[in-house]
Amino acid sequence: MSVFRNDFLWGGACAANQFEGAWDVDGKGPSVPDMCTNGSLKVPKWITTAQRPDKFYPSHESIDFYHHYEEDIALFAEMGFKTFRTSIAWTRIFPTGMEEEPNEKGLEFYDRVFSCCKKYGIEPLVTISHYEMPYALVEKYNGWQGRECIEFYMNFCRTIFERYKDLVKYWLTFNEINCGTKPNGNLVALSTCRGYEGPRNLMPDNEEIRYQALHHQFVASAKAVIYAHEHYPKFIMGNMILMATSYPLTCDPADVLANQQNMNNMNWFCSDVMCRGEYPYYSRRFFEEHDINIKMEPGDTELLKNGTVDLYTFSYYLSTCVTTHKDVEQVAGNMIGGTKNPYLKSSDWGWQIDPVGLRYTLNEIYSRYGLPMMVVENGLGAYDIKSADGKIHDPYRIEYLRQHIEQMREAVKDGVDLRGYTPWGCIDLVAASTGEMAKRYGFIYVNKFDDGTGDLSRERKDSFYWYKKVIASNGEDLN
Ligand code: BG6
Repeated sequence: MSVFRNDFLWGGACAANQFEGAWDVDGKGPSVPDMCTNGSLKVPKWITTAQRPDKFYPSHESIDFYHHYEEDIALFAEMGFKTFRTSIAWTRIFPTGMEEEPNEKGLEFYDRVFSCCKKYGIEPLVTISHYEMPYALVEKYNGWQGRECIEFYMNFCRTIFERYKDLVKYWLTFNEINCGTKPNGNLVALSTCRGYEGPRNLMPDNEEIRYQALHHQFVASAKAVIYAHEHYPKFIMGNMILMATSYPLTCDPADVLANQQNMNNMNWFCSDVMCRGEYPYYSRRFFEEHDINIKMEPGDTELLKNGTVDLYTFSYYLSTCVTTHKDVEQVAGNMIGGTKNPYLKSSDWGWQIDPVGLRYTLNEIYSRYGLPMMVVENGLGAYDIKSADGKIHDPYRIEYLRQHIEQMREAVKDGVDLRGYTPWGCIDLVAASTGEMAKRYGFIYVNKFDDGTGDLSRERKDSFYWYKKVIASNGEDLN
């Protein structure tokens, strides 16, 4: 008997701007990622204020899911997916974000995608906003700094809720909303990049604007949840947190405290607002010491209180350490790095692999909120090289996923309420941090390369067959 629930949602995850391509097809407008160039581990990607003919924009074609969705969903079905997490490109539906009427052709695309999922019995899990917003809203309002964006977002939500109400039940309001607590998040998540052209890591940061923009997202999320609960009682509304689990490097109490503060500010702050319905007690001191004054409007407090989520979802790739000690080795991470953990090995991109940390994290989240949870991103970004037999043998990926599923199993035995697992980039796609194809996560290989070449053909990797067995045995057969 499996420890996982009978209705456990095994599947995979992608995001519109990283795999759809067709960036200007059928009336779609430019979104922030469409203005971002490619990069690599060593060369940061850029954001530009206009399309530059001398630059390469990986989202423009990506792996062209837009024209391959039937083939791709059939492959997901072959693996036995119960769910498929994807996002809706806001600019397919509202090209500038400000239109009153939606773009019918954009809506029809997702009719086709979700209907195709349903045909195979795959439950769509939809991220409403995954690291993107219409670039026109950046030019006019400096992204989420503008409170106006709340109403534009609500217009988007009302439209897609009504259109897909019979096809989609699970909705996540913002991907990795807590990125907004870090300087990098101002471009990626909050889009407060008006007029800026240059490498993403050098974009100027204003902490107060960043938290103001985040407040607008909190209100937008709460409004969407309230609206969904009122009009579509069957909907299940979730948050989505980048879980950057960290440990104190030593048992020096100063390290333990520094780690607690890191966990609060990075991981718990946003989910405290979204799950408990108010700014947490520790934010008051943080805001005071950082000169952050958030402008709230009458009614915001009630909205946050009433718009708490039903489901806690998060991404988990790695963990890092925190210390107050000097001269310690640093490592990379998802969005933020940290101090090296001597007990862990790293991926080719320097992300420390920590399966046990997933069990620890699931327990931490559950003890804090008691909500049902889903791990909606996890996986190993790696260089996949074709073998002499023309196939991709990826034992490293299988090993990574196996170890993480084993720890999920332990966490379920511990008693946490885990409902689903959607490994990231179930089909190869463009990496968010570096804008490259070379960092592959998929069970399905896509013939597409960083110079833009490749015939976009799809091939099953070894992990494809392995994951199929995992799903068929409801997580029991991990060999
Ligand atoms: C998550 C994002 O942070 O990590 C995804 O939600 C992203 O969009 C994923 O792709 C992996 O990061 P990267 O940079 O390897 O693509």
